[in-house]
Amino acid sequence: MVEKFYIKGGTPLKGEVLIGGAKNSVLKLMAAALLAKGESKIYNVPELTDVEIMLQVINGLGVKTSYNKEEKSLTIDATEITNITAKYELVSKMRASFNVLGALVSRCKEAIVALPGGCAIGERRVDFHIKGLEALGAKIKIENGYVHAKANKLVGAEICLDLPSVGATENLMLAGVFAEGATRIQNAAQEPEIVDLANFLNAMGADIIGAGTSEVVINGVRQEDLHPIEYTTIPDRIEAGTFMAAIVGTKGKAVIRNIYPAHLTFFTDKLLKMGANIKLVDPTSIEVACKNRLNSINFVTQPYPGFPTDLQSMAMTLLTTANGVGIITESLYENRFMQVPELRRMGADIHQDRNHAIIKGVKKLTGATLTASDLRAGASLVVAALMAEGNSVIEKLHHIDRGYENFENKIRLLGGKIERKDEVVVSPVELTEGIRNESYI
Ligand code: EPU
Repeated sequence: MVEKFYIKGGTPLKGEVLIGGAKNSVLKLMAAALLAKGESKIYNVPELTDVEIMLQVINGLGVKTSYNKEEKSLTIDATEITNITAKYELVSKMRASFNVLGALVSRCKEAIVALPGGCAIGERRVDFHIKGLEALGAKIKIENGYVHAKANKLVGAEICLDLPSVGATENLMLAGVFAEGATRIQNAAQEPEIVDLANFLNAMGADIIGAGTSEVVINGVRQEDLHPIEYTTIPDRIEAGTFMAAIVGTKGKAVIRNIYPAHLTFFTDKLLKMGANIKLVDPTSIEVACKNRLNSINFVTQPYPGFPTDLQSMAMTLLTTANGVGIITESLYENRFMQVPELRRMGADIHQDRNHAIIKGVKKLTGATLTASDLRAGASLVVAALMAEGNSVIEKLHHIDRGYENFENKIRLLGGKIERKDEVVVSPVELTEGIRNESYI
């Protein structure tokens, strides 16, 4: 059986949608919970396959966990860590699990974590993570595809990242919590998820200042200073941005609740320039609407607070039917235009040259059978199918399920025509068997 989305496009999305907890924050908070002995509880945890994989990773370390569906809370009991190895089978499925490296070196002084390797959207190296840990005094060996890090004692250091890497900033924050003295990360990532991690760690008893700026300082504390906590994750700004695009693209009008609008300033500004109407309803809700054909814009993806790469594919989808020509430069990943061939199959006019895409707006997209190649490209195809004339089928939903909780239910509540259906897949062998059997009849 294979699950597919069946989407009938052309219905304006209307009503209200509630955004869940941020995937890219929760995954790191789960790693951070490993630092304090005892039971921490994280609220606003979305049910996603990526969260499930991270649970398997930390369960593999001997840590007990339980998820409460009604409360959307996750309890992590890190009283004991009995194993320091994170296996390739899991890390290769979900790169964020590499974040247990910093937490394990910090707490256990040793960690063996599989190198994640590349992924569909780019090479995604982890060299900054490794160089940073070495600067803190960890001895690192790369053997048989694993990073083996050991440190009798970590000592604070000055680390300047070549790029403001989110994952490296987070891993080094985790590693610096128990280091002797101060760890100063310069050119640090400034994403809201970094601030969430710092708030989580500080609530546990860590001493971190500057999160959300380009310089984060972690003043080392003693292991006994850390205690488990209860904490609520920030809302998922990328899920919110995806719904903003879907509402605007279908010429709808809806309220998006449970968000921090300030986390979406750059994206909101670009949508306003395209002609969308966006207004604040209350401190955690916005109303998004669009009546007319959008105007084209140009943008370059950048680390926060710039245009988020994770919303690049949604904006491209909107540009496919906008008035004029839009140019996108993807500056973070080498291969993040995976949606382009699929959008072309829906009638989009896109010229791609390495990390640049020139999108000439057409009057309309038409439905087609489409394949999701990765999480955000997949979500942008759902947006495109909702905008398009006619029916679409989207395959390889496992990519989308990594980062969107109840996606089709939320879209349906907004009036979108979408269904997830299981389809029986007949293997070529079964097919030829069938033909052979038929020929006997
Ligand atoms: N980079 C290096 N060396 C390193 C680390 C990063 O060269 O040691 C490069 C990467 O190859 C990439 C760039 O730096 O080209 C940015 O990578 P970064 O480390 O900032 O990204 P990440 O931590 O691997 C997180 C999100 C991504 C999001 C990026 C950028 C999580 C789990 N993932 O990845 O989210 O695109 O930050 O904002 O937090 C998604 O949710 O769909 C997703 C891919």
